[in-house]
Amino acid sequence: MATIEHISCLQPLVDTFGRVHSNLRVSVTDRCNIRCFYCMPAENVHFKPRHELLSFEEIERFVRVAAQLGVDKIRLTGGEPLVRHGLPDLVRKLAQVPGIRDIAMTTNGILLAEQAQALKDAGLGRLNISLDTLEPDTFFRISRREGLAQVLEGIFAAQRVGFRKIRLNAVAIRGITEPEIVPLGQFARRHGLEMRFIEFMPLDAEANWDDQQVITGEQIRATLTEGIGPLNPLPVEDPSQPATDYEFADGLGRIGFINPVSQPFCHHCNRLRLTAEGQVRNCLFSIEEWDARRLLRGGASDEDLTALIRASIGAKKAGHGINSDQFVKPDRAMYQIGG
Ligand code: 5AD
Ligand code: SF4
Repeated sequence: MATIEHISCLQPLVDTFGRVHSNLRVSVTDRCNIRCFYCMPAENVHFKPRHELLSFEEIERFVRVAAQLGVDKIRLTGGEPLVRHGLPDLVRKLAQVPGIRDIAMTTNGILLAEQAQALKDAGLGRLNISLDTLEPDTFFRISRREGLAQVLEGIFAAQRVGFRKIRLNAVAIRGITEPEIVPLGQFARRHGLEMRFIEFMPLDAEANWDDQQVITGEQIRATLTEGIGPLNPLPVEDPSQPATDYEFADGLGRIGFINPVSQPFCHHCNRLRLTAEGQVRNCLFSIEEWDARRLLRGGASDEDLTALIRASIGAKKAGHGINSDQFVKPDRAMYQIGG
């Protein structure tokens, strides 16, 4: 991977609240091979036509400019990133960008078994794999498709090819997740994986979210403690990380809690986002976007792109305000933003 010496020292991406942005989430497609209700509509999904998506070269150019501004971590997201053809080629390109230290991906795992080796070889460092349940019927209820067996195969294939510190993401939803909590915790313990529970956020495409459907991280922690054993907090390695991490007292198994609804972590946010069609967003919940694709396709200079990124960061709000009366849900659902 490229080293830091090669990059020129431009001013970092600091917003008006003093938060330094070094983490870029790149969505590579809005398509997905399943239809999780917390992210996508069941039917009639309007995917963007292919020519509206950024090419790998355009993404690489954007990342090069962002890296000169201090971005050193990339996470590839979707939709489902692995439905985009040739994804390992993109990973390889990004791994060579000076200043990029870490490339991760969030995937639903369905196509992972067949691509795990190529992704590892290309330089992908870390994986987050969605796993909301270990029950095929519940998997179908959530994702409206079959696929649990492939996801499990994907997880084990990733371990076999040498991915370490794999994280499993479960979105916690009242009425669905309660019976899954302890089995997921045990699965993570048995297989040396880290389980992460994420509070359900108002980013579902059908706008059915209400706060009664949220199971808080605290409630999940109580269930795990009762069903498996005591959990001890782990030291915070990186204050900008959204998860609060715990380890079972017997040392077997880590559990992380991402609590955007009950304990917003916006005050330490260091993330910016690039959507699949090249719009810069300064927050998952932003209602404004900055059009990088127009610049990338219009012969703009690196300075123009830098100014666009700085404008977006400069307009970043203090927090998402999900719990406020003034909260405005973005027009886009999760699959159109990138998790
Ligand atoms: N609330 C919380 N997490 C979500 N994800 C998708 N939609 C939501 C939502 N509405 C998470 C899933 C998936 C990742 C891409 O984003 O955990 O793993
Ligand atoms: Fe696909 Fe992930 Fe959205 Fe589920 S959450 S529909 S797997 S993009």
